[in-house]
Amino acid sequence: MACALPHHPLFHFLLLFLLPFSIVARTNGTVAVGTSITANNKDTPWLSPSGAFAFGFKPLEEKNLFLLSIWYYKIPDQTIVWYGHDGVPVSIGSKLGLTVDRGLVLSDPQGKELWNSQLILNNNVAHGFMNDTGNFVLVRSDSVNLWESFKNPTDTMLPTQIMEYGGVIFSRLSETNFSQGRFQLRLLQDGNLVLNTRDIPSNFAYDAYYNSSTSDYSNSSNSGYRVIFDDKGVMYILRRNSEIVLIKPQGTSFPATEYFHRATLDFDGVFTQYYHPKTFNSSTKWTPIWSQPDNICVDIGGGEGSGACGFNSICKLNDNQRPDCKCPPGYSLLDPNNTYGSCKPNFTQSCLEDDINSAEDIYDFETLINTDWPTSDYEHFSPATEAQCKRSCINDCFCAVAILGDSSCWKKKLPLSNGRDDNVVNRHAFLKFRKRDPRTLPSPLPSPLEGRLDTLVENDMEALNDWKRLERFLMVAIWCIQEDPSLRPTMRKVTQMLEGVVEVDVPPCPSQVSFTS
Ligand SMILES: *[C@@H]1O[C@H](CO)[C@@H](O)[C@H](O)[C@H]1NC(C)=O
Ligand SMILES: *[C@@H]1O[C@H](CO)[C@@H](O)[C@H](O)[C@H]1NC(C)=O
Ligand SMILES: *[C@@H]1O[C@H](CO)[C@@H](O)[C@H](O)[C@H]1NC(C)=O
Ligand SMILES: *[C@@H]1O[C@H](CO)[C@@H](O)[C@H](O)[C@H]1NC(C)=O
Ligand SMILES: *[C@@H]1O[C@H](CO)[C@@H](O)[C@H](O)[C@H]1NC(C)=O
Ligand SMILES: *[C@@H]1O[C@H](CO)[C@@H](O)[C@H](O)[C@H]1NC(C)=O
Ligand SMILES: *[C@@H]1O[C@H](CO)[C@@H](O)[C@H](O)[C@H]1NC(C)=O
Ligand SMILES: *[C@@H]1O[C@H](CO)[C@@H](O)[C@H](O)[C@H]1NC(C)=O
Repeated sequence: MACALPHHPLFHFLLLFLLPFSIVARTNGTVAVGTSITANNKDTPWLSPSGAFAFGFKPLEEKNLFLLSIWYYKIPDQTIVWYGHDGVPVSIGSKLGLTVDRGLVLSDPQGKELWNSQLILNNNVAHGFMNDTGNFVLVRSDSVNLWESFKNPTDTMLPTQIMEYGGVIFSRLSETNFSQGRFQLRLLQDGNLVLNTRDIPSNFAYDAYYNSSTSDYSNSSNSGYRVIFDDKGVMYILRRNSEIVLIKPQGTSFPATEYFHRATLDFDGVFTQYYHPKTFNSSTKWTPIWSQPDNICVDIGGGEGSGACGFNSICKLNDNQRPDCKCPPGYSLLDPNNTYGSCKPNFTQSCLEDDINSAEDIYDFETLINTDWPTSDYEHFSPATEAQCKRSCINDCFCAVAILGDSSCWKKKLPLSNGRDDNVVNRHAFLKFRKRDPRTLPSPLPSPLEGRLDTLVENDMEALNDWKRLERFLMVAIWCIQEDPSLRPTMRKVTQMLEGVVEVDVPPCPSQVSFTS
């Protein structure tokens, strides 16, 4: 009767007793030196005592890729709050170890070191500790913290975390790419907390789109010097004179005893504090309490950088107060996978004589209501009517868009920056687009890039290797033998076309000439 155990009352008792412990491994948050974990789907990450936070390799959507990170472990939405290795994912089999002399060391499956926690030499790590606050610390035997994730923040701050002056957090590049993005939150030496865009990769900062105005140049004791996210979940700037300045006025309806809080500089440039109930069900989610700035689409300006969206794009605030980016009519995404990126026109505007002479036949306008690209001006006149504004732009081969408002006309050139579609704009944009090519396009030349042209050049390898130049020469030749003499280019233009100084349009197919010999 050895097989009867499952029906034995003792079995059910054992099951009841063991089950809760097998779901979340018991931990006191301490990580011993010499411990390591491997990036696979089996190793348990290092957990905080309550199991609220985990430190280790978080599997990403993309198969067999992991991110060295700290994340909310218990709630269904396992939100990442910190990442190492500059947010670059690692492959399966990578290893994280805790060493005495160098702290955390990340290595690839072949054992090559990828990243470490950069300790000052000769500092002996006694152990690591994953705190229930979400802070992972490396501790010396005398309890001094040698390294803290809170002191090396990425895109998120948590309650009890402090930003000292000179501190910075970066947005990630996109929802799924953890590399540093275009937006940053900085506490400057002058005491101002600012949000700004920047140039990647030089890190040159552009104009701020949020500024706390907490500097006092005449009396520095009134200047801000710390950003504090307190244990109650309230975030503020602390002045040296102990005054506090809330980053955004907020109620106290979500006590930190019952709610998780986090403040994240989201990939779209909006700095947002969120809460999440600690007791949850399948429908609980992170909900914003406040965000800065109020309207990123209109608050971003300045002469440099593309704005909230990419170049030539238009930003519109959606119902969740987040920016949506879209390309204007006649433009499409440069990178089809990045809707927050730049847009390219579906035509090239040229300043060739032919195009200038017949501009009105070639170009037309799309009218966009309450839309503006407030920078990118190069000409301005007032007073102006709609007709005058449009006429001025259509006959100007540099003009990409004309903006009309308050009886003024502004002409703008590419690339357009800080595009916005908002009721406060109160201006109309007349966006130029090419209706048609002045000459009707024939089907393109046969490619070799189809086996027709090699017969023409009789397998001349040198000519084939210089396909682009060959194509240009052939197109020039076909322009020169047009039946309609008015279509034939001048000698000067032929020279320019041959030299590649000007672009060569695809010529109409001459009816009497056959490509086949
Ligand atoms: C945590 O547990 C380890 C053994 O697993 C023990 O060595 C250590 O002293 C414990 N730390 C605390 C703070 O209880
Ligand atoms: C965990 O963090 C809290 C709040 O900062 C701190 O008071 C506590 O000492 C930390 N625990 C350990 C073991 O470091
Ligand atoms: C994230 O973006 C960077 C910069 O464009 C790119 O080099 C990197 O490959 C991307 N990472 C992933 C995981 O797609
Ligand atoms: C922030 O605003 C102050 C005025 O309150 C100004 O002096 C300072 O230059 C601004 N800082 C940035 C980075 O825009
Ligand atoms: C600076 O401001 C503080 C108040 O915040 C004031 O007590 C102090 O006298 C001021 N110092 C000077 C030099 O004005
Ligand atoms: C989930 O929890 C929230 C409170 O946190 C509650 O309002 C909601 O009704 C719950 N939903 C379900 C389906 O139980
Ligand atoms: C370019 O965009 C304009 C305006 O949306 C459209 O009329 C035109 O057909 C487009 N041309 C091409 C080649 O897609
Ligand atoms: C867009 O993303 C898909 C899937 O990740 C990828 O296969 C494709 O190459 C990407 N396209 C571009 C232009 O980057």
